[in-house]
Amino acid sequence: MRQHRTFPRLLGSLLLVAAAGISSVGAVPGGAGAAPDTAPAAVRPLGEVVPAPASVKPSGAPYALTPATRIRVDDDSREARRIGAYLAAVLRPSTGYALPVTDDDHGRGGIRLALGSRDRSLGDEGYRLESGIGGVTITARTPAGLFHGVQTLRQLLPATVEKDTRQAGPWRVPGGTITDSPRFGHRGAMLDVSRHFFTVDQVKLYIDQLALYKINKLHLHLSDDQGWRIAIDSWPRLATYGGSTQVGGGPGGHYTKAQYKEILAYAASRHLEVIPEIDMPGHTNAALASYAELNCDGIAPPLYTGTGVGFSSLCVPKAVTYDFVDDVVRELAALTPGRYLHIGGDEAHSTSHADYVAFMDRAQAVVAKYGKTVVGWHQLTGTTPAKGAVAQYWGLDGTGAAEKEQVAAAARNGTRLILSPADRIYLDMKYTKDTPLGLAWAGYVEVQRAYDWDPGAYLPGAPPSAIAGVEAPLWSETVSTSDHIEYMAFPRLPGVAELGWSPASTHDWDAYKVRLAAQGPRFEALGIDYYRSPQVPWPAE
Ligand code: ACM
Repeated sequence: MRQHRTFPRLLGSLLLVAAAGISSVGAVPGGAGAAPDTAPAAVRPLGEVVPAPASVKPSGAPYALTPATRIRVDDDSREARRIGAYLAAVLRPSTGYALPVTDDDHGRGGIRLALGSRDRSLGDEGYRLESGIGGVTITARTPAGLFHGVQTLRQLLPATVEKDTRQAGPWRVPGGTITDSPRFGHRGAMLDVSRHFFTVDQVKLYIDQLALYKINKLHLHLSDDQGWRIAIDSWPRLATYGGSTQVGGGPGGHYTKAQYKEILAYAASRHLEVIPEIDMPGHTNAALASYAELNCDGIAPPLYTGTGVGFSSLCVPKAVTYDFVDDVVRELAALTPGRYLHIGGDEAHSTSHADYVAFMDRAQAVVAKYGKTVVGWHQLTGTTPAKGAVAQYWGLDGTGAAEKEQVAAAARNGTRLILSPADRIYLDMKYTKDTPLGLAWAGYVEVQRAYDWDPGAYLPGAPPSAIAGVEAPLWSETVSTSDHIEYMAFPRLPGVAELGWSPASTHDWDAYKVRLAAQGPRFEALGIDYYRSPQVPWPAE
């Protein structure tokens, strides 16, 4: 049974909770391991964190949360207060502590969240976490950095802290200093909400799971042959008809603009940027079925609920096609606070090459007209990528040298790359021939295979500076519930997060698999249905 976290919760029997907490504090005057009632494992190694922090310096005694612990934030920062409230909501149900968020930033002890560090080395997303017997301080230059530091703090506490009912504790944070910032700015996950539709709540749940591992981009694949999932006022049938089914023929669904904004706001509260994708000129059957005039022959095809690809194309020579593109991009750009708009461009097998090049030229110009930067699947590099465009590589290790060189040449020419090699980090690939969900066209992708490669050196001839980062797509032909999402994403997704975040110098499967194993109890505490890969030394149940 899944056990969704619900927070905030009412505190249970407060007196009992407080008494239990005080006695545990009383039992640890000397810090780590001093209490006779305390298993050594109660203090986790500093640095047993995924993704691996850039610098870990253990020292001194742990900090123990108590019923009196306060979360102290700078008095002039709404962002820090909001992150403090988020942390309190994570910690309250399991600890049973009140954990008031206070702006008493001159007091001592407790958990201090400090924004506005002048330390430039922390960058836009980095943080420093200092822990000792007197308290924990997380310092960052930006709210995103503070939020990522909070994710590290969660992982330094026992896994049971993630449960949504009161647990025994003790709640100790190992002593020392972590100084951390990401290797890449783009650490993404893509969710295909077209092949199967996922509700706002399902997307929010995935966002929470992504945030745990410092993923900072959520790419939503909003349209495909099987379903159009975002309301477009000027072409209403796209959503109401084109969104009315899915693979296998279920009812499908779509997001109203209000619902989509709710997803955006939730993602922003977890410091993820949403990158919307409208896939064009192929993968467009849902649109073609909704509006006959978009078809070259003027006849709307039926809705499609199978899993084939490459059979649909917008009608490149028709003027109305560009009215459609302009309207859709305009409305989507207006909804999008982020910089990027993804226009697909993959598997346009029913579009001639000349038409494809002509279409991508025009579509890219429309994106620029509405002030956004183009992202496209790497076939975009076979056209003329717009200035600043980003190409998402989804080939295989064994993709031919000519295709790889086309992508690398674009990278040398200024096109930035997001790496999503399909036989490495497509989360919809089966782990083995025996795992129940997923496809296998790119091969089987076990946990080690997903982790064991270097994004900086992956594509021959592409300058490392052109690599924006990594992104793990989850296509949903076989995936239709949150349990399915979790089974395919976990435990591969934390490995992708680590490739995106951690310095290359920390890359080591044998060390990683041990840190990953320690996430197992955390997945369980969070109710995440994960694949218990035999490659990972999970703790005994
Ligand atoms: C893709 O997998 N067709 C991008």
